[in-house]
Amino acid sequence: MRVLSGIQPSGKLHIGNYFGAMRQHLALQDEGHECFYFIANYHALTSLSEARLVQEYTQEVALGYLALGLDPERTIFFRQTDVPEVTELAWILSCITPMGLLQRCHSFKDKLAQGLAPNHGLFAYPVLQAADILIYRPHVVPVGQDQKQHVEVTQDIQGKFNQLYGELLVRPEPMIKEEVAVVPGTDGRKMSKSYDNTIELFGPEGEVKKKIMGMVTDSTPVEAPKRPERCNVFALLRLFASPSELADWERRYRQGGTGYGEAKKRLFELFLETFGAARKKYEQLQMDPPYVESVLADGGRRARAVAAAVMKEVRAATGLKTVRDEGC
Ligand code: ADP
Ligand code: TRP
Repeated sequence: MRVLSGIQPSGKLHIGNYFGAMRQHLALQDEGHECFYFIANYHALTSLSEARLVQEYTQEVALGYLALGLDPERTIFFRQTDVPEVTELAWILSCITPMGLLQRCHSFKDKLAQGLAPNHGLFAYPVLQAADILIYRPHVVPVGQDQKQHVEVTQDIQGKFNQLYGELLVRPEPMIKEEVAVVPGTDGRKMSKSYDNTIELFGPEGEVKKKIMGMVTDSTPVEAPKRPERCNVFALLRLFASPSELADWERRYRQGGTGYGEAKKRLFELFLETFGAARKKYEQLQMDPPYVESVLADGGRRARAVAAAVMKEVRAATGLKTVRDEGC
């Protein structure tokens, strides 16, 4: 099975990114599937205009994946910009994508609701994402719940393309782990860098501790029984603790006599246990930019070879002639 996914480098990685997306990506690699994972830096320009930040966050995603166990021998790991053919395909797909399909996208509507002045890139974002996906002909696209609609848009575009030009592109299926569909942030809303409620995977220990200890909870006194299903600290414990430990926390919540502070302390310990090794690896990788660059460059070459072959077929099917295809 061929698997493809991407993460936009628009901030520091947080535990929502890990449990919602990255963990699944790494599990699919470890199950032996043929994986393509990339850093969606073209997409990042829809919300970032500072070159320094685009670079910093691209490096963050690269280091994060490698530290968490991405194996560049088995997985093709690359930057979106090392495959410029995706922007060419995005244009071709744009010409068969109805405006209404994009107007209905939640992510676009959410960004408008947050008061962001919409640029064309933000509106066309799902078309570029469709190109990212379709150009590698993957079967499965593992993503967080918030990206499901973008994969469905991709399916629509793929159907339309094949109907017009022949069976060239493969229909991708979204893959979502329902049990961690939405990881709550420190304030109980969806964890997201745009809400400033994240717990960063590779942030300084003191800062992570401060974030966890400062999580918003209700004001139920220590002695009183508590409702685990209403508590965002418990929701995060669920992601880190073993089933038996979790059952114990559930019992203690319902019984009363356990304060939220205790649960937060344990959550911080579990965070360090879970990510300690990756955090060390991240620090080591930070000292070796040439290695990280060589991984991305090599992945980019491998990905581009696949994309270029598909684009040659796409150009032929759509009647687009170019000297680039001549003699090869
Ligand atoms: P953010 O919401 O912080 O801007 P992104 O949109 O860059 O995060 O998300 C990158 C990936 O991580 C996506 O696949 C997304 O579905 C997943 N993801 C982000 N936040 C969460 C969350 N709170 N719960 C589950 N998955 C998430
Ligand atoms: N939109 C995705 C995100 O915000 C990133 C992305 C871009 C992506 N292209 C993709 C994800 C293709 C899956 C497949 O994280």
